[in-house]
Amino acid sequence: MQYPPEPFRIKVVEPVRLISREQREAALQAAGYNVFSLKAEDIFIDLLTDSGTGAMSHEQWAAIMRGDESYAGARSYLRLKSAVEDIFGFKYFVPTHQGRAAENILAACLVKPGMYIPSNMHFDTTDANIRARGGRPVNLVIDEAFDPSSLHPFKGNLDIAKLKTFIEKVGAETIPFGMLTVTNNAGGGQPISMENLKAAAAVYREHKIPFFIDAARYAENACFIKLREKGYENKSIIEIAREIFSLADGMCMSAKKDAIVNIGGLLCINDEKLFGNVKNELILREGFPTYGGLAGRDLEALAVGLYEGLDEAYLAYRLGQTAYLAARLNEAGVPTIQPAGGHAVYVDARAVLPHIPQGEFPGQALTVELFREGAVRGCEIGSVMFAHPDPETGQMVYPKLELLRLAIPRRMYTQSHMDYIADTLANIKSRAESIRGYKFTYAPELLRHFTAQFEPL
Ligand code: F0G
Repeated sequence: MQYPPEPFRIKVVEPVRLISREQREAALQAAGYNVFSLKAEDIFIDLLTDSGTGAMSHEQWAAIMRGDESYAGARSYLRLKSAVEDIFGFKYFVPTHQGRAAENILAACLVKPGMYIPSNMHFDTTDANIRARGGRPVNLVIDEAFDPSSLHPFKGNLDIAKLKTFIEKVGAETIPFGMLTVTNNAGGGQPISMENLKAAAAVYREHKIPFFIDAARYAENACFIKLREKGYENKSIIEIAREIFSLADGMCMSAKKDAIVNIGGLLCINDEKLFGNVKNELILREGFPTYGGLAGRDLEALAVGLYEGLDEAYLAYRLGQTAYLAARLNEAGVPTIQPAGGHAVYVDARAVLPHIPQGEFPGQALTVELFREGAVRGCEIGSVMFAHPDPETGQMVYPKLELLRLAIPRRMYTQSHMDYIADTLANIKSRAESIRGYKFTYAPELLRHFTAQFEPL
């Protein structure tokens, strides 16, 4: 597969170094074999997340110098307001310090104990913010999402029949709002079609359920629609984005992804009364409504980044880079979730390490091995993150997939970095039988992947 030439050149560089094999082994031991505990400077290529890790442009850095740090009514806020209105078209918005802050405020205003919030798949912070208010997040993605080899072009789609049945079962009055996550991060960064967005919006509207979009990676989703959905080939990305948001009553967004900033988020809504409550919550937890927990310079960088994230040459390169890495891995016999997602490649760890049972964490073993072999950091999305004892039987319940996520920071790494990652995983694959599993030496009850410690078996 052809690697798309980067539609930018490099003006500022940040050195990285490759430490020796002995140093990598020592770093792993000191980190208790948890890559979250490694020192970032010991990492050669960091694919832990694409969130807040992208490279800002010269225009964004210039905008940072223009930041107006006034407490209220700053020039920078007005610049951001005009970009947000132009792209998303909602009546009201507030900035927040990141995506989960927008989720928290939305949940604080709308979720009451026992209420249900359906979505294709909630991201884990959305899930946790709903639960923190006593609500119940519900995932109704299509079944193809769980089949790593299915080539469905829109594997992030919501199952409309499941949604209708669900609303009938629990009653629309128990659903304060419905959601869709575009693209579906928890399901492999897979996109949602415009057809599906329209169908979901119609069902929510019919039942008078407000519809919110988790827009963290909306620009990548819009680009997939342009590439894969009939009738959108000749539309611009911004036109597709506007059409997506015209279907919704509001959105939460982590701006650390498709708006290519290091910090920031947005909460947009159409309902005036709700906006009043949102502002009160915001002032309590984040800051005054014209800065929402961000510095004026952050608002400026975001106003510029929102447009850069929609640039078609950038998006073609972005999706092409991810697809290139997936293709190189597949050529080397390393299976990944098909088709490649927008922001990340998800390696099927069980297929690479079939001899390691789920209870011995094949995803974790592959994540550790990637650092040991090449000082590359990925992230386990498998049993360390999701296995839990059944509350009734006490039996361990394991997730369907054991994955190693390779999230690609925006505008950061080059083709030779992608080749290095693929070669590193190919080397691991060639000695896969010798790789052993892990056991916990420490594991907290909740969100254990962040702080757990391990020992090789
Ligand atoms: N929604 C989605 C779809 C996300 O992927 C994330 C973050 C959030 C909301 C929360 O946003 O981090 O700004 O508070 N995803 C990151 C990741 C952390 O690595 O996938 P945040």
